[in-house]
Amino acid sequence: MSLSAPTCIGASVSRIDGPAKVTGAAKYAAEYVAPDLAHGYVVTSRIARGRIRRIDVSRARRVAGVIDVLTHDNRPQMAAQDDAYRDDVAPEGAPFRPLYNDRILFSGQPIAVVLAEDPEAARFAATLLGVDYDEEPHVTDFLGQRDAAVAAPKGAFGPPPARGSVETALEAAPVRHDADYYVPAETHNPMELYATTAIWDADGRLTVYDKTQGVQNAHTYLCGVFGLKPEDLRVMSPYMGGGFGSGLRPQYQVVLAVLAAKALRRPARVVLTRAQMFELGYRPAMIQRISLGADADGTLRAIAHDAVTMTSRYEDFYRQETGWSGLLYACANASYAHRLARLDLPTPCDMRAPSAATGVYALECAMDELAVALNMDPIALRLKNYSERDQHSGDPYSSKNLRACYEQGAEAFGWAGRAPEPRAMRDGDELIGWGMATGVWEALQMSIGVRIVLSANGHAEVSCATSDIGTGTYTIMAQVAADMLGLPLQDISIRLGDSTLPRSPVEGGSWIAASVANGIAATADAIRADVLRLAQGLPHAPLAGAGPDDVELAEGCVVSRADPSRRTPIADALRHARLERIEREHLTEFAAPKLAHNTHSAVFAEVRIDEDLGLIRVTRVVSAVAAGRILNAKTARSQIMGGVVWGVGMALHEETLIDPAFGRIMNANIADYHVPVNADIHDIEVIFVDEPDAEINHLGVKGLGEIGIVGVAAAIANAVYHATGTRVRDLPITLDKLR
Ligand code: MOS
Repeated sequence: MSLSAPTCIGASVSRIDGPAKVTGAAKYAAEYVAPDLAHGYVVTSRIARGRIRRIDVSRARRVAGVIDVLTHDNRPQMAAQDDAYRDDVAPEGAPFRPLYNDRILFSGQPIAVVLAEDPEAARFAATLLGVDYDEEPHVTDFLGQRDAAVAAPKGAFGPPPARGSVETALEAAPVRHDADYYVPAETHNPMELYATTAIWDADGRLTVYDKTQGVQNAHTYLCGVFGLKPEDLRVMSPYMGGGFGSGLRPQYQVVLAVLAAKALRRPARVVLTRAQMFELGYRPAMIQRISLGADADGTLRAIAHDAVTMTSRYEDFYRQETGWSGLLYACANASYAHRLARLDLPTPCDMRAPSAATGVYALECAMDELAVALNMDPIALRLKNYSERDQHSGDPYSSKNLRACYEQGAEAFGWAGRAPEPRAMRDGDELIGWGMATGVWEALQMSIGVRIVLSANGHAEVSCATSDIGTGTYTIMAQVAADMLGLPLQDISIRLGDSTLPRSPVEGGSWIAASVANGIAATADAIRADVLRLAQGLPHAPLAGAGPDDVELAEGCVVSRADPSRRTPIADALRHARLERIEREHLTEFAAPKLAHNTHSAVFAEVRIDEDLGLIRVTRVVSAVAAGRILNAKTARSQIMGGVVWGVGMALHEETLIDPAFGRIMNANIADYHVPVNADIHDIEVIFVDEPDAEINHLGVKGLGEIGIVGVAAAIANAVYHATGTRVRDLPITLDKLR
């Protein structure tokens, strides 16, 4: 008898939550109902800085169906101290306290919530509020504040220490490239609007259905803000229509919904509008200067990366935007500087591949420009400076197969056929450009709890408080559990998105797949040991004398690895012990890896440009990714494709425009805020290169939610240069900039 190899991990399994989503059975935060549900509509500030002098709610209150209007004057009690509002992923500073007082910190700040028997009445009444302000001068002009920016504090995300002597090396370098690159503010636009439904149970406990990437983060936050006992509150987010980082921190509607439920002693729901979603946070605009110095053979001698990003006046949001530059390529001299422009805007927040999407954009365009100056092929320049070690720590990598990304990506794209000169490739009226860039992200993992309940009928329930923000977490959890427990996929059920489940960090940073997969494997180890012990209690036990490492769970049995004919059905083991089920909960902690750990990609893009019309089309993208073991070929490919599509948006379309006169976003809707549509997207090919990694974790998983976007905008910008001979360093590359 032979064992079938694990078949679920890695397979192209369609999402197990797909049928629930497409049939409407999957409920989102705004879809939970309860008798007497009150509907809230948010009113926001039209000034960017100052105080509310007076809010006249009398006309709004007279609208039929209106129950109440909550403002800072009449809201239920909330914590005063900033600390109570500091969630798991809050940056340094004093977090925004929704509806706390009369102070206005940004345009679009919530100042009231109108509560009514139906959403239409609330929405209409919201237009009748009379608000008087004491306005103060505001500043939201990022470029104008460039010189006033202050050094970013030396927190966890401060720039890495410099190495060598950059100035000397730059002066001595025979070939130099210096330029400024600009990325505008960009806004997350997940399909699902931010929403919260708060429902009381008969015992006075509150269940909050919230759109969030972290139910336990929201739970801790709400307990702090409202002084609730942890057991009196449950936060649920079993399904999420996209987050991209905007749901890592609790958003203000969750506070408003709980305020409403408390004020009315009724269930309450608050749903934001698309325009209001634009004020929840954004990718900070970034001005960056990159200086590169190289020998004539392409050997990098110096990298300097200086950045200015924007933040609010009340929190310092930044990531290690500049650090990627010194990490990626072998170079003895590197320096970094990061300054923050504090503006009268809401605090920025993480957006897919925060810091890498922007920082690597500049680096990879600069590398392309250096290759032009050196008259070198862009891939050859990168291979010349290929680094086998993390350049900050000097540590070797747990695995790094970026070389295969360059090779396989170039091969699939046909890079060898590229004529190096700009404007050398044409098809009729269209100029053709081919560009490439490198991508890099971290391979992180966080402590995580998993509970497995294995029933005598051969079913297992696996639970964890993580989220599935649309990435496929339900599915990869089921795949890993099926293989680890030796059960068919359809006999696994997954519970997540519930704060009462075993401990999980927010779903972000691309760390959940690695964390939860290995958490399931570790918990399944405990289940296996239990089953073995029970099996050894049977008379004439075939596995007598075997230790937990001598057996595995497969085909519904506990099976000797050495002799698969020695086996006991799991059901028999439980039945003999008179157990209906065994249950194990295990917290998996990850030791800090001694080796450097990153994911990488090589992105190749083709653009076709009609110069008369200024039309740029991205007709082909090949993204070759090295991200360790791939848990699900289908959902993984979807993640990378999504990242590529967003990279097209970053390169050509997206820009959050702020009117400095009013301090207000001018294009806070998805008609004026441009994102790629179907007609903008052509061929996208995703390649996962083989990258075995026995060091990073048991299963060799590195995660891939973020890596898909990194490098894409640079590859496209480099292709635009190759097509036209015009170097556009300011994103998005709109037609006016090609003139
Ligand atoms: Mo991701 S930007 O950490 O949701």
